Amino acid sequence: VKQGFVNELEQISDSEALEALRVKYMGKKGLITSLLKGMGKLPSEERPATGQAINGLKEELTVLLEDKALQIKAMERQRKLEAEAIDVTMPGKRPVIGGRHPLSIVRRQIEDIFIGMGFEIADGPEVEYDYYNFEALNIPKDHPSRDLQDTFYITDNIVLRTQTSPVQIRVMESHRPPIRIIAPGRVYRADEVDATHSPIFHQMEGLVVDHGITMGDLKGVLDVFAKALYGEDTKTKFRPHYFPFTEPSAEVDVTCAWCHGQGCRICGYSGWIEVLGAGMVHPNVLRTVGINPDEYSGFAFGLGLDRLTMLKYGIDDMRLLFENDYRFLKQF
Ligand code: PHE
Repeated sequence: VKQGFVNELEQISDSEALEALRVKYMGKKGLITSLLKGMGKLPSEERPATGQAINGLKEELTVLLEDKALQIKAMERQRKLEAEAIDVTMPGKRPVIGGRHPLSIVRRQIEDIFIGMGFEIADGPEVEYDYYNFEALNIPKDHPSRDLQDTFYITDNIVLRTQTSPVQIRVMESHRPPIRIIAPGRVYRADEVDATHSPIFHQMEGLVVDHGITMGDLKGVLDVFAKALYGEDTKTKFRPHYFPFTEPSAEVDVTCAWCHGQGCRICGYSGWIEVLGAGMVHPNVLRTVGINPDEYSGFAFGLGLDRLTMLKYGIDDMRLLFENDYRFLKQF
């Protein structure tokens, strides 16, 4: 019995097989157990010696089993460690790093330019009262820009802001001059989507109010801005325009540095492209927020961030800015 056991024990290398062996010899129906049971058939004088011999064998086998169990445990541990080992010399997998959206890159550049001129960043809600978006900006009830076709109305007196100009009013309500702020943000108009239009787009408002602010200050600031963003060769051109909340008003074009005056899908063949509206803050607007127009004057402007971004990078379809296709975004 012992020799058989030792032979079988040698073959075993895992704990399941070891347990099976234990059951085979020492289990309830095991060999040793049945040997002990068989003692009943022996003559009584042979029983003590036989019993002793079987029990001795049982103890021996138990010790062998325990030794083997320890060996197997150590082996299994070793195997597990090997299986789980990490090869620190293997080259790593490079994680895909996201990038900033081109609109955010350009917005930050523009913010830096204006912060450099002493402006602070202001903010206002995208869901706005009619009062701030229109009324306080000297836009009367029958003005065409209030048309249901342009404006997303939430209720009678709440809209999705169609411009960042309501931030002008909010800032002037809560701050006295001198005021120097920019206010970047999303704006909404019920436009059909095409290469140059989107119902959601981005503007950056600028507002300066202080003693003796003139149109010359406006021109100087915007010229510095255009050169800082597009390069020292960039020129600006003021064209007379109309906005209800500025007087006089202008639209401002910049030279299209991207196509170097050869013509391109962004600015056509003129070499100029309109990028912002601006003007001197209308006295009615100042009066509405309790600032005396005889004491103070100011200028305001509204930059079209999407177009400035397209111009900066030569993007010829506005939809690319909103699709967030990784193949497009990873280029910036
Ligand atoms: N809010 C105007 C627009 O959306 C732009 C503008 C801002 C014009 C400030 C003048 C002064 O077209």
